[in-house]
Amino acid sequence: MNSEEFRSFAKAAVDYIADYLENIRNKKVLSSVEPGYLHQHLPQEPPQEGEPWQSLLQDVDRIIVPGLTHWHSPHFHAYYPTANSHPGIVGEILLSGLATISTDWHPDNVCVALEQKVLDWLAKLLHLPSHFLNTSPGPGGGLIQNAASDSTLIALLISKTKKTSETAPDAKLVAYTSEQSNSSVEKAGLLASTTIRLLPTDEHGALRGTTLLRAIREDIASGLTPCSVVATLGTTGTCAFDDLEEIGPICKDFGVWLHVDAAYAGAAFCCPEYLPLMKGVEFADSFCFNPHKWMLVNSDCSAMWFKDVTHAEKVFDRESSGTHFWQIPDVRRFRALKLWFVLRVYGVEGIRKHIRKQVDLAKYFEGLVRGDCRFEVCRVSLGLVCFRVKGDDRRTQDLIDRVTQRKKIFVMPYYFREKLVIRFVICSRFTEETDVLVAWEEIKSQVEHNLDG
Ligand SMILES: Cc1ncc(COP(=O)(O)O)c(C=O)c1O
Repeated sequence: MNSEEFRSFAKAAVDYIADYLENIRNKKVLSSVEPGYLHQHLPQEPPQEGEPWQSLLQDVDRIIVPGLTHWHSPHFHAYYPTANSHPGIVGEILLSGLATISTDWHPDNVCVALEQKVLDWLAKLLHLPSHFLNTSPGPGGGLIQNAASDSTLIALLISKTKKTSETAPDAKLVAYTSEQSNSSVEKAGLLASTTIRLLPTDEHGALRGTTLLRAIREDIASGLTPCSVVATLGTTGTCAFDDLEEIGPICKDFGVWLHVDAAYAGAAFCCPEYLPLMKGVEFADSFCFNPHKWMLVNSDCSAMWFKDVTHAEKVFDRESSGTHFWQIPDVRRFRALKLWFVLRVYGVEGIRKHIRKQVDLAKYFEGLVRGDCRFEVCRVSLGLVCFRVKGDDRRTQDLIDRVTQRKKIFVMPYYFREKLVIRFVICSRFTEETDVLVAWEEIKSQVEHNLDG
């Protein structure tokens, strides 16, 4: 492929993406293909001769798109948002085209310098403590990781190394998190060979200080060595916030590493009105949030900060391999570029507007649910509304099954306090009030069916 062909190919692809996003509202939100579908459409062997690029885009349209879950559809209300924006897409294209793979953690390398700069911008945007800044006089700093799961694993590995150096090398380490934390925390425990204790939460789904203190004391009494706590700001199920003001001082007293996972909710801290939700964040040794969830940066882009990077350096800096990143892979993509694009095109006010609009849309949905006596609202937090059909769980399950089968909207089930609830999240940046109404009409139409039946 020569440069002219590349230009035509790339232009056609960008046109295709623009059309796809413009029309996404009209697509059924879930894949409409049957299992085994791809095998029927693709040959068993790779092509012997190269094919014209036009056939690739045609096949994306003909074969791939019908099999997609449309994560950016305004009718996708499950999980948490997976971010997307025009500057984010262009940044992703450019960073792949510039194709730098940085292995050099030196501020003269422009990729590293830009990453340090935008991570500082981001920390300021979120009102994080200044000790996290790369430019702080202290030992703090931040960088981009692949995912929140990586950040948790990295925090566990660092805390393990730190604790082992302070105690007996054969100490039996234990880490704590709440029963409501993301499954990636247990996975990280497995990978870091650290026992994870899942602690009970209060009636709001938050981990409280008294619970943590009791667990730590019990474990010390039975010969274990507490080494870290993974606290969540914005749990996956119900967007609950662990109490950092209570947990933080306990971690400090017992020399336990405090990692904060704010994968989704972290984006909200750009709005001053949500800052009370992260009170106590100054106790965190490390903090992670995903701009690729709710802050308009295309996946992947997970931000992680350390209060003191020297602990990370002890684990991850390897002169022998020439890498100086506090991360799992050897090399890294130039993801700062797309973050930079999003921050510049939206600006602080544009990002705040996006977050506030999505929270308002969730409140709008909450109002609709509350206005119907067949339903109960169980929890509302940021862009998430948890609700259920009153009565037996089977009614809620039936409703979820019907709605999922029809593929007009997509919602998620979750068990909270022994009750089945529906998680309804405002996920897409395209969502408007009319889309929320469409979702509500769809839910009502299916519950009517369900209650009559
Ligand atoms: C609170 C929380 N932490 C971690 C994760 C995992 O994120 P990632 O896919 O970036 O590892 C999620 C995913 O939804 C989450 O909600």
